[in-house]
Amino acid sequence: MITSVSEILAELASRFRPDSRITVLTGAGVSAASGVPTFRGPGGLYKNRRVEQIGTPEAFGRDPQFVWEWYNWRREVIATKQPNRAHEVLARWSQRYPRFTLITQNVDGLHERAGTQNVLRFHGSIWEVLCWERCKQSPPRWRDETAPFTEIPPRCPYCGGIVRPGVVWFGEGIDPEVMKRSMDALDCDIFLTIGTSAVVYPAAGLIHEAKTRGAFTVEINIETTPAAASLDLPLEGPAEEVLDHIERFIL
Ligand code: OAD
Repeated sequence: MITSVSEILAELASRFRPDSRITVLTGAGVSAASGVPTFRGPGGLYKNRRVEQIGTPEAFGRDPQFVWEWYNWRREVIATKQPNRAHEVLARWSQRYPRFTLITQNVDGLHERAGTQNVLRFHGSIWEVLCWERCKQSPPRWRDETAPFTEIPPRCPYCGGIVRPGVVWFGEGIDPEVMKRSMDALDCDIFLTIGTSAVVYPAAGLIHEAKTRGAFTVEINIETTPAAASLDLPLEGPAEEVLDHIERFIL
């Protein structure tokens, strides 16, 4: 029997009930339609370097100027972008379903700007900074939406040292509170992984853990990822279109 895409989406939509526990993991692909470049797709390299070579404490220690150039550029790009239909649908779900959690690897803040509730920022925020020296006078981190900074590396207003972006770098741990709340959210009925290459851990591990705990697991991506084979429903297509279709079937 051949099942049509419409039947598949209708079946998925029927799983969304008022008391459903819904957990979503997002990655850079969700912001692609807004014009924010992904990390591993076209335009992912910066001056011929991969994100794994730029986003590390070692790279920052060696050359904070270069690392800040990249973040300053990304801040400038993101500041001009708007949430797209994928962000909008997820924001609506967060407002409609009381047991909804969104875990995002994105640091761009577009989910929050779309009005999404209950967002766990797994990799921090590009709009936060902290003192690289961790000086005693400064708070653990603070918000700074300057885009772009005219002087890089930007200076700590408390001690005059340099600040670093408030994001999680390769080799650093996830905030324990964020990790705990993310793990708790894996006890869910539906788990959707959307627009992530599923190669960066520990975030990618959440997908497998949700499946192990019995969630109905769905992937939405324009290409097949390493996670797809073990999931219940891999859906191939742009997040902004597939989520829009699912939402139409739900309503
Ligand atoms: P990647 O750049 O690795 O992957 C983006 C994914 O989005 C790819 O699988 C694309 O196929 C998919 N994609 C692109 N456009 C899409 C669209 N319109 N709809 C659906 N999918 C689309 O980004 P992430 O997986 O988010 O970490 O990367 C994970 C982490 O690696 C990032 O959070 C960042 C990076 O290093 C840190 O900075 C710590």
